[in-house]
Parts: sequence; structure tokens; C-alpha cells
Amino acid sequence: MPRLTNGLGVQVEDTHICVVMVGLPARGKSYIAQKAQRYLQWLSVPAATFNVGNYRRKDAAQPTADFFDTNNAAGERTRRAAAEAAVADMMKWFKSGGVVGILDATNSTKERRRWVLETCQKEGIETIFVESKCDDEELIMANIRDVKTTSPDYQGQDPEEAAQDFRNRIRNYEKIYVSIDEDGDESEMTYLKMMNVGRQVIINRIQDYLESRIVYYLMNLHIRPRSVWLSRHGESMYNLDGRIGGDAQLSPRGEQYALKLPELVRKSVGDDRPLTVWTSTLKRTIATARHLPKHYNQLQWKALDELDSGVCDGMTYQEIKDYYPDDFRARDEDKYNYRYRGGESYRDVVIRLEPIIMELERSEDILIVTHQAVLRCIYAYFMKKDQEKSPWMHVPLHTLIKLTPRAYGTEEVRYPAGIDAVSTWRGKGSTAKHEDPVPEVI
Ligand code: ATP
Ligand code: F6P
Repeated sequence: MPRLTNGLGVQVEDTHICVVMVGLPARGKSYIAQKAQRYLQWLSVPAATFNVGNYRRKDAAQPTADFFDTNNAAGERTRRAAAEAAVADMMKWFKSGGVVGILDATNSTKERRRWVLETCQKEGIETIFVESKCDDEELIMANIRDVKTTSPDYQGQDPEEAAQDFRNRIRNYEKIYVSIDEDGDESEMTYLKMMNVGRQVIINRIQDYLESRIVYYLMNLHIRPRSVWLSRHGESMYNLDGRIGGDAQLSPRGEQYALKLPELVRKSVGDDRPLTVWTSTLKRTIATARHLPKHYNQLQWKALDELDSGVCDGMTYQEIKDYYPDDFRARDEDKYNYRYRGGESYRDVVIRLEPIIMELERSEDILIVTHQAVLRCIYAYFMKKDQEKSPWMHVPLHTLIKLTPRAYGTEEVRYPAGIDAVSTWRGKGSTAKHEDPVPEVI
């Protein structure tokens, strides 16, 4: 059987990369690590994060700032043991097929970095150091308030005292912290150094394609507040017939949704902020977006077109079962990987959506009007849905979904338009034209 390429279109099974986070506390290292992990997993690249703090908490659950003073020998030993345990687990994980392991710790001294580098080299694992530097005091304080005072390290403690203790912890790290290659003797290392959330970026010795994708992705991240709105097109004439694919017009109820969408968007945005609207190149999404305010910038993306159902385009699920019973069964067995004859799989759709995700990460407020399968893939990226489940998600017609990225997750609000539409959700094995959705699917 030919090996499947992952979302990046390359064979990565034989690649092992350790992404070593570097930086003082509250510089967004864990944030960057979990974003990178999600991006890679979404692209089917096996990725995992090893957070040294989680290992340290097993022995020192709620340490005060002086635990992190390098003159505290007991503290040093515990921290060293936590780093060793995290790296040992990461090495085991690489041996079991892991491709990108992210070591999430401050790694703030040259000695620690050299040790990680040499440990990886012995096992033939590439390393890329990713440093986040930040001297914006306001941002650091906001980070402490947002995520640190609620961390398990300070559970049950007064937030003001927790914030003060965390600042003292940072001071202890500052005493020993050396920025990567600051002294010019780490220039042989592969690294990405980001200053003040990407305002300035230094890239050194990137070695291969996967590393360059990771670097490019990280360079596009920002933390300005924003939301992404997702909507399917209004109900189409094909939806009424239970036919898939095609380039049908909207049904009368689909037209009503198009008329209602500007009001739903206004309600959800809450002010006069202009949005950028992305549609596919198909009639039904363009028609759905056409009553939105004229000052919204609108763009059509071919990459947002519905999953191509190849020879099955225009058929009902019953017709597919009658003409291609083996295909019908195969799709139900592995919906994510099944590729329609002459068409696409969900995996293929994710590959073509990669530039969309990249652009979304760079952008601020965007409204995307697209199709059932494509919306599932974009939603899965933000909401961390796995590949088993995402192709079966229930995404109703005539509903606006607002996603707002937060420090460690994404918030979701749904705005139903209150306009009836058929259900295009189909359960495993079913050939029903319009099936009642099973709500717990998502
Ligand atoms: P620690 O060493 O204590 O684990 P950390 O560096 O891992 O700290 P995070 O827990 O990731 O810090 O901090 C999360 C906060 O950092 C979020 O509020 C996020 O918005 C913010 N953030 C994300 N990226 C950056 C960045 N490049 N620079 C500064 N802050 C960032
Ligand atoms: O039925 C609407 C539709 O957008 C079709 O055009 C498309 O083939 C289908 O949904 C994708 O959903 P599923 O993967 O569940 O068949």
C-alpha cells in the first residue's frame, strides 16, 4: 500500500525534530508550544509537548519564588530531575513514532541547551530552539494575570500575592538567563528568536522543509484580540434533494438566510467593526454573502470550495450506495481518509486548507462562508477535534458560529438564524436524504 503523505505533502515518518522552547516565564512559551502542536497534529504530523513544569509539580506542587533561586540546591536538584524525566519520556515517544516533540521549559542557560542538544544528537534527533523574548512590561503583567495566577502553582491563593510571587520567580530566572546565541557561541544551533510577539525575528540555520514550515507558522502567530466567524451557505436546491457537491443556487429558505446574515453578524460582532469576508468560488456561498455591508472586504478562495466528491458529484447518498457499494462502505469505515474516485478525502481538504489556516493566523476578524466538509476541517483546527470525529460533526445550516481564540483554547458561541433548513448530516451507514442529527456528535 502506498504510504500516505501527511498534510504537508511530505513523508515525515523518518524525521524527528525536537522543538526546544527558550525564554523567561510568562513569555508565551506554552502558548506557542500548544499552537505548534495543534497545527502539526491537524496536518497529521505526530506531535506532542513535554512540559517540564508538569513534571516538576509532581515533586513540588506549589513552590514559592525562592524554589527557583539557583542558590537553592534542593530546588535545583528537583528542577533538574524534572527536566531529565521530561526529556526521557520525549525520547521514548520519539522511538514509538513521534515526529515533532516540543520541550516546553525555560531552557534559559547555555548548559541546559547544550545538554538537550547533545541528548538529541545521540539519538539522531534534530533540534530547533524557539525563543520568545519580551520586554513589554504591560504584556508580561497581563500574561501573569491572565494565566499565571490561575495556574496549578497558585491554586487557592490570593491572585495579588500570586502575581507578586510570580514576578519574584521571573527575577530569579533573570539572574541566570542567557538569550540564545547572545555570546555568539551558539551560532551552530538551529534557532528562531522572536522578540515582542514577532515584531523582530531572527532565524538561524533552518535545515529542512518541516522545520521551515514550523518556523513560518510561528512567525505568523499574533495575540491581538480577534474572532473568526464561520457559516455554511444558505440551504441550496441540492440540499433539498439530498444531493452532494454541485454548484446549485440557494433555495428560497437559503435566500432568507442570506438576507438575515447581516443582522446575525451585527448582533455577534457587537459594534461597527468591519469584517473581511471569505467565500468559496461556488454560487451558494457567494449568494449567501452578497447582502453583507458593501464596505466589508470580500475575497473568493478556491481552497474553500466543498470537498470534491469526484464521480459521486450530484448523487444522493442512496445513489452512491447503489452504484458504488464498496466505496460507500469504505467511506463509512474511514471517512477521514476515504478519497472519492476522482475526488478528495477530508485529509486532502486539510492539505489545501493549510494556506487558509496560515492566513487566518496572520489576520484579525474574518467571516468565512463555506461548506459542510470544509467548515468541519477549519472548526477541527480551532477546537482540537480529532480526525476520527471531525468528518462526522454536526454543523447545522443557517447558523453563525463565532470562535474566539484565548490563551489556551477557543471560545465558541452559536447564533441560529431561526430559519428552518433540511439537515444534511448523515450518520454511519445511513442513506436517509435528511437525517435528524445526533446532537452529541460534536
Ligand atoms: P512559564 O515559563 O511560566 O511556563 P510561558 O512562557 O510558558 O511561562 P505562557 O503560559 O505560554 O508563558 O503565557 C501565556 C500568555 O502569553 C498568553 O496570555 C499569551 O497571550 C501570551 N503570549 C503568547 N505569545 C507570546 C509572545 N510571543 N510573547 C509574549 N507573550 C505571549
Ligand atoms: O450535503 C452537503 C455537502 O456540503 C455536500 O456537497 C458534501 O459532499 C457533503 O456535504 C460533505 O459531507 P459528508 O462528508 O458528511 O458527506
